[in-house]
Amino acid sequence: MTNPKGAVPPLSLTAELTHRCPLHCGYCSNPIELLTRDQELDTATWREVLTQAHDIGVLQVHFSGGEPLGRKDLAELIEHTAGLGAYVNLVTSGLGLTEARLQSLVDAGLNHVQLSVQGADAAIGDRIAGTRAHHHKIIAADLVRRAGLPLSVNVVLHRENHHQVAALIDFAEELGADRLELANTQYYGWALRNRSQLMPTADQLAAAELIVQDALVRLKGKMQIVYVIADYPEKFPKPCTYGWGARQITVAPDGTVMPCPAASAISTLQLENVRERSLGEIWYDSSSFNAYRGDDWMSDTCRSCDRRELDFGGCRCQAFLLTGDAAATDPVCHKSPDRGVVDLILAEPRRTGLVMRSPSR
Ligand code: SF4
Ligand code: FES
Repeated sequence: MTNPKGAVPPLSLTAELTHRCPLHCGYCSNPIELLTRDQELDTATWREVLTQAHDIGVLQVHFSGGEPLGRKDLAELIEHTAGLGAYVNLVTSGLGLTEARLQSLVDAGLNHVQLSVQGADAAIGDRIAGTRAHHHKIIAADLVRRAGLPLSVNVVLHRENHHQVAALIDFAEELGADRLELANTQYYGWALRNRSQLMPTADQLAAAELIVQDALVRLKGKMQIVYVIADYPEKFPKPCTYGWGARQITVAPDGTVMPCPAASAISTLQLENVRERSLGEIWYDSSSFNAYRGDDWMSDTCRSCDRRELDFGGCRCQAFLLTGDAAATDPVCHKSPDRGVVDLILAEPRRTGLVMRSPSR
């Protein structure tokens, strides 16, 4: 194994166990073409992947999807991961979480649950999820709290629920969340198709800022709040994944290994698979992980900029999706020669009629 770019060990692995999901959220960032059940890695291969992740230094494993509860071997995989000494997080919609199922996961070594919430009440939550989901969130949060696990509530914000930011903060408090992540939609995968329908108005964003600032003070020490801004209206891009191939690995349900969950959108990238090559070789040695490591791939705009160690030139997936060149400066940046693309999108009249996520089989 070589390490041509001097990479350091990864911190975390996102194990996307399945793309199957009971919800149909229009903001879904998973790819348009979902992988099917018969393409998923089997239990033995996932165990091997998790062992390899531990061997190269991974300290946290996030089981996600789709809905990871859709995998019957979830407890076995959690037990294996916890046995390796990693911190285990479950990212779930809560649908399918019963007391017995949660107990089996806790017994296996689960450390933390991240519960997605679509709205502050059933009318909006169920409409956005495309199914009766809201009451399952209340049940799931109660189970997690009673099991003594820390609970994070994750909300993806968009034009259809932005007016509920204050109510969502109250709802997360009622659910007993230790942490609330309010994340404006990132436009990848299915969400990109709905960008115009999802994009919040400037007034919504301004109102949310004030509400969140107030809640940060009011709830300090009680519930941590993380607000992920909408990046299109900003001057600078987000430090996506804290640098390409710097901290994180994502393994898709079929074993494709990616530097970020959206990387399959970059059609110029040669992604590799754990069925053919070890995780360590892919992390250190593959063309996909080395493509945008460090700063020698950057355009002059970024290479000569003193923010390059703060934002790493922004998001590679966004650069590719908006300009066709994954090495371009993220067009959100006001220094990017492509900033006009983002300004045009912001100026377009907003469409209505969110297209619901089509399910995996
Ligand atoms: Fe970041 Fe590049 Fe913009 Fe500088 S020019 S702020 S490094 S994206
Ligand atoms: Fe892929 Fe930002 S989402 S690099």
